[in-house]
Parts: sequence; C-alpha cells; structure tokens
Amino acid sequence: MAQFTRVSGIVGLITLQNPPVNALSGALRQNIIDVMERALSDPKVKSVVICGQNGIFCGGADISEFGKKMGGTPLVPLIHSLEASNKPVVAAIEGVALGGGLELALGCHYRIAHSKARLGLPEVTLGMMPAAGGTQRLPRLIGIPAALNIITTGRHVTAAEALQLGFVDQVTDHNTVDAAVKFALSVAGQSMDARRISNFPCPCPSDVDALFEEMMQKVRQSARGAIAPIACVQGVRAAATLPYSQGMQREAELMATLVTSGQAYAQRYFFFAQRAAGRWRMPGGAGWDTSKPRAVHKAAVIGLGTMGRGIAVALVQTGLSVVAVETQEKQLMEAKQAVSGMLERGAKRSGAAPALDRIRYSQNLQAAGDVDLVIEAVFEDMNLKKKVFKQLSAICKPGTFLYTNTSGLDIDQLASETSNPELVVGMHFFAPAHVMKLLEVVYGPRSSPQAVATAMQLGKKMGKASVAVGNCRGFVGNRMLKHYKDQSYFLLEEGATPELVDGALEEFGFPMGPFRMYDLSGIDVGWRFRKEEGLVVPGLASGPSARVRRGLRYSPLGDLLCDQGRFGQKTGRGWYQYDKPGGRVARSDPWLHSFLEEYRAKNGLVARRVDRQEVLERCLYALINEGFRILEDGIAAGPEDIDVIYVFGYGWPKHRGGPMFYANMVGLAKVLERLEHYHQAHRDVPSLQPCSLLRRLVASGSPPINTWREVIKKLHSHL
Ligand code: NAI
Repeated sequence: MAQFTRVSGIVGLITLQNPPVNALSGALRQNIIDVMERALSDPKVKSVVICGQNGIFCGGADISEFGKKMGGTPLVPLIHSLEASNKPVVAAIEGVALGGGLELALGCHYRIAHSKARLGLPEVTLGMMPAAGGTQRLPRLIGIPAALNIITTGRHVTAAEALQLGFVDQVTDHNTVDAAVKFALSVAGQSMDARRISNFPCPCPSDVDALFEEMMQKVRQSARGAIAPIACVQGVRAAATLPYSQGMQREAELMATLVTSGQAYAQRYFFFAQRAAGRWRMPGGAGWDTSKPRAVHKAAVIGLGTMGRGIAVALVQTGLSVVAVETQEKQLMEAKQAVSGMLERGAKRSGAAPALDRIRYSQNLQAAGDVDLVIEAVFEDMNLKKKVFKQLSAICKPGTFLYTNTSGLDIDQLASETSNPELVVGMHFFAPAHVMKLLEVVYGPRSSPQAVATAMQLGKKMGKASVAVGNCRGFVGNRMLKHYKDQSYFLLEEGATPELVDGALEEFGFPMGPFRMYDLSGIDVGWRFRKEEGLVVPGLASGPSARVRRGLRYSPLGDLLCDQGRFGQKTGRGWYQYDKPGGRVARSDPWLHSFLEEYRAKNGLVARRVDRQEVLERCLYALINEGFRILEDGIAAGPEDIDVIYVFGYGWPKHRGGPMFYANMVGLAKVLERLEHYHQAHRDVPSLQPCSLLRRLVASGSPPINTWREVIKKLHSHL
C-alpha cells in the first residue's frame, strides 16, 4: 500500500507500506501510481514527498516476483511519471534505498537522506542489473567512473558518500521526513526542468572508449565468468554513448538476456539457499524455531596460531570480551602483535576505535575459568585436543560451551573427555577466520540443541553464513573436497599438467585451481597429516604398492614433492616455481614436467591426452557425488546447506549456485551417466561409483532441487 496524506498544508506525503522493507511489489507499484495521480490532481498540493514506513525507504524489487510474469504497473513507467511531474517530488530516504528503491529515488527531483541511510544498486549480486533506469540515470548524475563502481559491485554507499558523489542533495541527523517536507515547501512552485536526470547529458571523458575498455577488462577479471557485471558495464556504456530513450532500450535488452540466463536463476536460488541454511534442524527435530540460544558475553580462545588469532579478532569485533590462551611464549608475543594489528586495521576501515581493551592474554588455561564459551584452536592432533578438553571441563564454570575449530576430527570423541558432552560442538571457521564468511557448526550425537543454537547465533552475529552439519570425518566441506583433490592428482598421473587442471577449473569460475591452491596453503600440511596417518612411505615412487593405500588408489605425487622440499609458495617451489620463497606469481616449471614424466615411466603409466571437459567432470562430479552421499547420510539437511558451504568456504562461483545446484542444472541423469563412465574406467576409485541417492533421484524423474529435502526425507522414512 502507498498511503497519501497532506502535511503542512501544501505538501502531499506518500508513505510506502509493504513490510518488512517496502519492497516494490506489483500492488505497491500500482498504489504509488494511484496516489501520485491524486497528489497531482489535488490543486492544494504544490509538492510531494515520498517516504517509507517504519524508517525504511525501500529495499527494492520484490525478489519473490523474479522469474515470474510481472503483474501490475512496471517500475519504469512509474518512475517516468514521477520524474515528469510538474510538482516537485522529494524522496525522504531513511534506512535503505536499494535497487528499485534507489531507482525510484533517482526518478524524484530531490533526495534527502538520513545520515545512517544506505544506498545502492545490488542487482548485480543476484545476477541481474539495475533495469529501471539505474544504469542510465546514475552515470548522468555522478559521472561514469563512480556509477560503474556502484553498479558493478552492488556495494552499499553511506549517505555521506552519496552526498559527496552527488546523488543525494541533503543529509540530516534529524527526522528525515520533516527535513524533506521543509525542503519540499521551499521548492514548491518552482520549475523542475533542470531536475529531471533523464534530460542530463552524460558527463564523458574525451577517451570514453579507452575508459570502457579498461573497465571491461577489470570487470572480466574479477567476474570469473559471471555475465551480470559485464552487462552492467554495457548498460552504462549505453548511457555514455546513446540518447536516453535508446539507452533505456539497451538496458531492457541487456536485462532480458540476464533474466533468461541460468546465472540469474542460480544466484536467486543461492539467495534463498542462504535463508534455508539458517533454518537448521538436528535429527530428532530440534532446530532454529525450537531452540533458544543463550546470551554470551565472554569467550576464551585456546591456541593463537593462524586460526586462533582470526577467531579472537572476530569475537572482539562482535563485542565479546575475550581471553586468549597460548602456551608458547614466542607465539603469544607474535599473536598479541598480530591481533592488535588486525583490530587496528579493522577499526580504521569501519571508522570506530579499536577495542584492544576487550582482549586479555594468558599462558595459562585457568584463565578460561569464568567464560561463557571456549573456542579451541590448538594443533590438529586428537590426543592434544582430548587433553585440552579434559582440562577445560575441569576448569570452566558449569554450563560453559566448549567449541572446537577442528577441521575434521570426531567431535564426539572430544565430547567424551568432558563431564558434559552436550556442551561440545564444532565451530569450524575458515582461514582467515575474521574474513571468511563460512562457519560450519558441527553437532555431535550428544550436542544439545542450545549449544548448537548458541554457536549458530554467535556465527550470525559475527556476520558469518553459519551452516549446521552432522559429525563425520571432514564434515561437509572437507569431506567433499577430498575427492576433488584426489581426482586432481589422478589426472596428473594420467597425463594432465597442473596448468591444464588449474586452467579448466579457473575458467569454470574458481578463483584458484587446485594446484595453485596447494602451493598457496602449503603442500606439506597434508603431507604431515598423511605421515601421521601412516600413508606416506618415504622414498617409495614405484612398484605395485606405490599407488595403493588401504586397498584404494593413492597418488603419492604430493608426498614426493615434499620429499624434495618443495612445499609450495613458502619454499619458492611446488607445483609451480616462484621468483623467491614467499613469492606469489606462479610460473610453469620445466622441472615439474620432467618429474611427472619420470614418475609415469617408473610406474608404467602411459600419458594420454586429458581435455578440459574431463578435468571438470572428474573433479566436480566426484565432489558432487560425495555431496549426494552426505545428503543420504543426513550429515547436511539439504542441498542448499552444501551449496552455501561451497560458495562461501571453497570459492565455488556464486553464479553457478553451488555444486548441488550445478548438478541439478547439468541434469542428474547426465551426472550419473558420466560418473558411471568414469567409474568403469577407474574401478580402483570407489568414490567415483554413483551414490545410491543420486540413482534414486534419477529413477524418480530427477525432481527439481527445491524438492530434494522432502524427497530425501521420504526416502529416509522408507528405510
Ligand atoms: P597453528 O599451528 O597455526 O596454531 C596452533 C596453536 O596452538 C599454536 O600457536 C600452538 O602453540 C598452540 N597450542 C598448542 N597446544 C596448546 C595448548 N595446550 N594450549 C594453548 N595453545 C596451544 O594451527 P592452526 O592452523 O591455527 O589450526 C588450529 C586448528 O584449526 C586445527 O585444529 C586446525 O585443523 C583448524 N583449522 C585450520 C585451518 C587453517 O587453514 N589453518 C582452517 C580451519 C580449521
């Protein structure tokens, strides 16, 4: 609804009313037209103010209408009618003016914003572009570079920045509607000819072609195959080179292409997948709607290595008091410096004071005695972790939640060391923990719903996408990744190069292929772990047992590199060569190629031609197959949870929706057929054998992904 009232005698006030964010639904758009007509035909009304109820101007289009046939008046003619009005129209922007909301405001003749308001055109983040004149009006108002930046990133702009850039006319700390009404009174009766942005010429630099060329290159690089940012540049280019009406036509054509592309569908799916993941549920029924989190104020972090430092920073930034415990004096000194630096840099970015006084350091675990929760981040060593949990259980006050950042160890074994196993839950952060958006919250068979709810809530407060998952080796993300990694190594054995494998997966949209990733994170990390597991046999590079461990195909290639001291970037040599230890730019290494040839010769392997398609199918379908197993085991509640984990934690390109969505797009029957094909060719790799859930989904006609949860539930109930 849009409500019309008359205030201060001559100002018509239109209030948008569509909770929670006054999204521009078909009904609201029609209402705005109706009340605008009333305002224009009322001779007593000399100017109009548009505002939103409950302190929110407008959150944009109604996302639930996307992909459906649009009802009611479209937004473009509505905005044109506002702009064409002879009576001044002023937007009073409180809360947010986003997407269609900002485009509506750009159709008004003036914009007054509250100092706390946020403005932006986030359509690109949903695989779309501003298509109600946003790409045509914004560059005319603030110039091409600033408009391109806002439109191609979808970022939110503060009111102060909007004022400085010139798309807001006034910022107030007081009541925005009062300020807008006052302003509307002051311009009543004036001609609006000079205020209609569509009439403005687009300010263009002389070398407009060079500017767009440069911008297009930049956007292509960061887009990783997403087409929406490119369409945004093309839309702004139309504003710079075509008259307004033709520019609008171009904007509509570009949008039509995006809307019918699979990418917008994928990103819309992902938007709802994030919400679905928030509605977590444990086996037995307890979940987000039944389990109340407990309020937490004070936390302890145990172990201040790579992860503990980031976790401590994230906790402080969320407003908790933190006790940080590290046993090694040298590590503690380094950690203090690193944590203070991260807090200072974070504060500088947000404009707040760094909360250095909210963190206290200790070498003694006893310091964790009075906290509400502990997050343990010591070495990935079961015996050490068990010892720490036993001590914590004795030291901490009753009821303290004991969380662990293990990457994949059994949560229940740790819980067994404590007197209250229901308080033990995994909080699996990703490096760097204060930056990465993903948090896997891992419940064991004995974890209490409240311990899980509190971890989920804390993750949310930290700004993380928190996904509740069951307890198994590697949880969801790392369990699936193992099969992707295995395939990457097997492909090298069969004839591929790191360059080919990385190239194919980077072209698919990953920011980094697997071999560049191994070099970055250190090949030795997995090697040390495998050594502990007894999988590494020193010096062994040939013979029948070289490539088999525990009866399964095993590639010792990474171990052999480590034997040579090639750990990756840190040693300047790994799957690639770098100009120095710590160097970042990967270059092809002829040594590595000879090493691969020698390895194949020693092991009787004949190199064959591997193409990019095979790289994608082997690596991605092996990972997806494990995703189906995870769904079958009930470790993840639905495909949405897996997809959120992969996009936020593992660099899966968002415009491809996540691995399970991708399988759905490719077609489950095709994925099944390719897995069967590869399993036939590699009988010693059981992980390529199609999972029975995948078979059953195909047998039941490959139901759409949004019904899988229900289908799986039914399958489980028949078991
Ligand atoms: P790290 O080796 O950088 O740091 C571990 C720290 O714990 C060291 O500073 C060590 O001195 C300290 N420590 C050892 N015993 C201790 C004790 N009894 N009390 C207090 N401090 C103690 O290890 P990192 O990489 O930070 O990993 C920590 C945990 O996080 C591991 O369980 C790991 O699997 C997990 N993890 C690591 C990720 C990564 O990318 N590095 C990602 C996600 C989880």
